[in-house]
Order: sequence, then structure tokens, then C-alpha cells
Amino acid sequence: MKPCEIKKDIYWVGAVDWNVRNFHGHTYSTQRGTTYNAYLIVDEKITLVDTVYGPFSNEMIARIREIVSPEKIDYIIVNHVETDHSGALPDIVKACKKAKLYGTTKCREGLYKHYYGEWHFQPVKTGDTLKLGKRTLSFLEAPMIHWPDSMFTYCPEEELLLPNDAFGQHYATSERFDDEVGQAELMDEAAKYYGNILWPLSSLILKKIEEVQNSKLSIRMIAPSHGIIWRKDPAKILNSYVSWAKNETKPKVVVAYETMWGATQTMARMIVDGITDTGTSVKLFDLAQSDRTEVIKEMLDAKGFIIGSSTHNNGMLVAVAGFLDFLKGLKPKNRIGAAFGSYGWAGGAIKSIEGTLKEAGVEIIQPGLGIQYVPDDVELKKCYEYGVNFAKQIGKE
Ligand code: FEO
Repeated sequence: MKPCEIKKDIYWVGAVDWNVRNFHGHTYSTQRGTTYNAYLIVDEKITLVDTVYGPFSNEMIARIREIVSPEKIDYIIVNHVETDHSGALPDIVKACKKAKLYGTTKCREGLYKHYYGEWHFQPVKTGDTLKLGKRTLSFLEAPMIHWPDSMFTYCPEEELLLPNDAFGQHYATSERFDDEVGQAELMDEAAKYYGNILWPLSSLILKKIEEVQNSKLSIRMIAPSHGIIWRKDPAKILNSYVSWAKNETKPKVVVAYETMWGATQTMARMIVDGITDTGTSVKLFDLAQSDRTEVIKEMLDAKGFIIGSSTHNNGMLVAVAGFLDFLKGLKPKNRIGAAFGSYGWAGGAIKSIEGTLKEAGVEIIQPGLGIQYVPDDVELKKCYEYGVNFAKQIGKE
């Protein structure tokens, strides 16, 4: 695949990872793969912005070579230390010994602790600029979006924002731009990325977007380090980030459960029937069978979470426990919840679920619904009404 010229003399020289299916360990399932985006700016000073994951280093260098000899690179901007963007640095630094690296002080510390190389590194902070010739690069620190070292780079002459991970998607495609792919698929991946990685950082993200808006930067293109480039409608992703960061929700419920012998599943289906009959949008997931990354994406804009589990060892089943632990780390806000499940004798799952939902910041709005062993017709009706009552408290937009 050839480099892609995204603006005059600015090239995508990254790599498409079609086959990766797990990211950040197994915390994120990348069912559509991903890309590692690196950008080469050809000006009086030749500048590489970010690199790629180490195993794709040769691919990136070959792409650069189609434009200029890598030895000619003057500057390398390191917006982020994480290895999916810095893994190719040792190779590219070897190929262009004169290149000077630019990044935050935390970036320098982080790079050293990854690669132990003594590189020519210039720390930069918000407001610092670097003249390339016709173009200038301006730096904006973005700590904890999503690592302490994270930084955005902006080119005013091109009205181009290079924000690294922010506004990205784990989405492998032969296309490079937002107007070349299906919008539903694109926004699905952008929401999945926000929900599973950035959600807990929402207050920082909101402040950073306000900072960018207050500084009146004109942005015509956003070129993140994963997925497609926003050139047709960068406002679309900016507005979506504002909405997600504000924890805005829809009248929608996610019902997620795990079952031992089917009784909790039967309850879940009746609860969903009740919610559905009120006209409220609902999604149902068996957590033992579902892709957690997808469930979290559905929760990102859902007002209500109803979580169910059979009781096991006086607590909840392990898939539910693992899921809620992950959800707790995402720190959702402005959500309501409830718990249900079948039990044999002592019970305990509902109390455990409610406790963890509260720790996650979810408001429990109705008493848990526990049913002994297998629900009879009267109890099934209770499940249905449980769903109806919950949905009534969601309200309508
Ligand atoms: Fe924070 Fe794509 O790495």
C-alpha cells in the first residue's frame, strides 16, 4: 500500500493491522482490527509525527522511503509513549541519526523506561512551537488523555490537528477518510473506543475540548493515531466527544446477566419484554457469551443498567463480577440501575450487584428482584412489571 497524501506534502505513512483482535491485553476486543497512523510532513524540515507498533516498523519505513530517504528526517514528534505509537522509534532513530525528538517531559521519561536509548530529545510544553518552513507545529499538552505524557500537535497553516489517540477508532480499512466509509460503522467504532478507553477521563476531555475551542483554533482536519481521518466533518467527532464526556444519555436500557441453569435468563427475557412494551429502547446481553467491549459501547449512551446473576457462593457469577469490576473503572455518571437474579436458598447475588453498581456511581432506583429457583407464571409477570417500572423511570426524550 502506497503512502496516502492527506494534504499537500503531508502523508499518512502508518500501517493497517487487519488481524489484531485484542488490545491493551484483553481489555478491548478489536473485532475490526486497527491502524497505527504516522504522518510525514515534507517541508524545509522533514518531520515525522508519531510512529507505529514495533512489528510494523519496516512497513512504515518502506512507506517513508517512497517519499524521502528516512535519513533526511529532521524532527520526530512523539505525541504519546505507548508502544503502539512508539514501537518503531528505535528503528527509525537508527535510520535517521540526526533526527531530533519532540515531546513532553513525561514523554522523555516514558520513552527512556521503554527503550533505554539516549536520544536527542527536546521537551516541549503547551504553547511551544516548531517552525518547519512554510508550516509551524504548535504543541498542546494533554495529560491523562490518556497517559501522563500525551500531547496534541496542531499545524495552523493546514488547520490540522494531530491528537494521537483522541478521536481515534480501532478500525482497519483500506480507506483513510471519514467520507469514504460507512458512517454507522465509523461512529460505532468511535463510540466503542471512547466507552472502553476514554470514558473515565471524561472531565479532562471536556476541559481539553473547551481549551481548544477557547483558543479559537481553526480545525479543518483531525488526523488521529488510530483509524480514519476526519476531513469531511471533524465537528461530528468533536460534538460526539462533548456529548459522551458530559455523560449525556438516551432513554435506553442495557440488561446484562449471567445464568447458571437458565432461570436468571428467563427472568432477563421477561424484564426485556416489559421494557420493550413501554416503547423504550433496550439491549440484552448474556455476559458469559458476549463481547464485553460491545456491551460497554451500548452502555455509553444508555440511561439505565439492569444487571442480573444467579447466586453462587452467596455472590454473583464470575462473568458478571468481572464485567462490573471493569464498568466500575469506567466511572459512568448520571445512570440508574437495578439488579435481579434467581437463587436457591440463601441468595446474595443481588446485594453484591447493587453494591458494585453503587461503587460504580450508578443510582439504584428500585429494590432488587430475586426469585427462588425457577419462576412460575406469577413470578414471570413480576419480572415483566419490573421491566415496565424501570422503563417508566427512564423517561422519554
Ligand atoms: Fe495510548 Fe494508541 O495508544
